Amino acid sequence: MMYRFIDFEIKDDCRGSLITLENNSTIPFNIKRVYYLFNTKKGVRRGFHAHKKLEQIIISISGSCKIFLDNGLHREVVLLNRPDRGLFLKSLIWREIYDFSKDCILLVLANEYYDESDYIRDYNEFLKEIENG
Ligand code: TYD
Repeated sequence: MMYRFIDFEIKDDCRGSLITLENNSTIPFNIKRVYYLFNTKKGVRRGFHAHKKLEQIIISISGSCKIFLDNGLHREVVLLNRPDRGLFLKSLIWREIYDFSKDCILLVLANEYYDESDYIRDYNEFLKEIENG
């Protein structure tokens, strides 16, 4: 399977809503890195890479965006527009993120520290990596 959604429990009360993310429970790995994309300009498309090993969970905690996913065999576009839904991506998935709403804040949880050598930024190289996989 190319991806799966993880729906987080919302703790609602008369004051508002709260979601908690915990290592190895709500999040199925040990979180080593968190980053977020915000203030993304109109018409921008980001990503254009896959990871050799990295696993990530991507959550649109505000606003919305679309993410194009490709595992070399299947392609799919997923809408991210809920702060209570994480998109779990394992390795070797090509992704492109676009149609960011002005208020979009995309929170990304990763199971490893930043490592440029884990990136595949060339689509043909990605297809080769899949074939050799
Ligand atoms: P980049 O990979 O281009 O972002 P995207 O895939 O969303 O288009 O990352 C932008 C810059 O930030 C680039 O110089 C690498 C750097 N960066 C880090 O230093 N640490 C990180 O954890 C990430 C994700 C990026």
